[in-house]
Amino acid sequence: MSKLNKIALKILSDGKGILAADESNGTMTKRLESVNVPSNPENRLLFRETLFSSSGMKDFIGGVILYDETINQTSNLKQTIPELISKSGAVPGIKVDTGAKILAGSQEEKITEGLDGLRERLKDYYKLGARFTKWRGVYNISDKYPSKLSIHSNAHALARYSALVQECGMVPIVEPEVLMDGDHSAETCFNKTSEVIKKCFEELMINKIDLSGIILKPNMIISAIDCPVQADVEKVADLTYACLKENVPKDVPGIAFLSGGQSADLATLHLNKMNKKYSDMPWNLTFSYGRALQHDALNTWEGKKENRKEAQESLLLRAHNNSLATSGSKD
Ligand code: 13P
Repeated sequence: MSKLNKIALKILSDGKGILAADESNGTMTKRLESVNVPSNPENRLLFRETLFSSSGMKDFIGGVILYDETINQTSNLKQTIPELISKSGAVPGIKVDTGAKILAGSQEEKITEGLDGLRERLKDYYKLGARFTKWRGVYNISDKYPSKLSIHSNAHALARYSALVQECGMVPIVEPEVLMDGDHSAETCFNKTSEVIKKCFEELMINKIDLSGIILKPNMIISAIDCPVQADVEKVADLTYACLKENVPKDVPGIAFLSGGQSADLATLHLNKMNKKYSDMPWNLTFSYGRALQHDALNTWEGKKENRKEAQESLLLRAHNNSLATSGSKD
């Protein structure tokens, strides 16, 4: 078993998943302001520290994805944030892309940036304690999108990023996110996501990536938010499984879904159904949720010290339910 494969399995095995807490300061500002908490480094740290010191971490969270600001912060408990996370048994990770910008040649689409200087930044993050990383490519669906240009360019960037990350001794999360915005059907989501994931693996192979040392973080195959007929849980599970089976090599140790704007309950139900119905999958199938894990905790916390414990319990409950879903044993 390679060193990278070992790290990936530590993050994803035994009913564990990933807590995605890598919101940029812009996104985190929107989240905090939604509960009337001013967004500053102290409050962002306070909320994240509340999550990372929850008892929900130890049994259910195998990895935490951090943002640059947080990985450099020292917790109020006088330990660095990576130390706090490692103490819970989870692996610290870091988002290393610098965001999605307008794609030249297809102005309504985006290309994720951050390759320049990445090798040097990775070395710094490794020293700070990170052992896995994340890079998100983003695609939207319409009658003409995602374009070939967007599918190709984002896959190429994801593969070059992965090569640099593995060279530095860390596990890359490869995240191609096909957005749920629009009114397209689950079948369209299936077709477009299949094309996107297939291209990602072609590029990963060209870039000589050790597939046993990556984690794939895809969207589930769901109906778009404004689609008049929403696919039910069974259909989402069937289509998502079919898409993965066709396009993801079995060497990949794990697939950890993003929640992507689904409700927290649905994100759990979908994962549960897949693991219940398809128990013969070659990969660990788990969660790497941001909103679906944090939403309740944030709304309970509201920036108040006296709500801290209750907020931690909200995270514990969501993490526990998703952990059960990794073996199809939720309810
Ligand atoms: P959501 O689960 O909120 O979609 O966030 C996951 C993530 O990391 C998106 O890049």
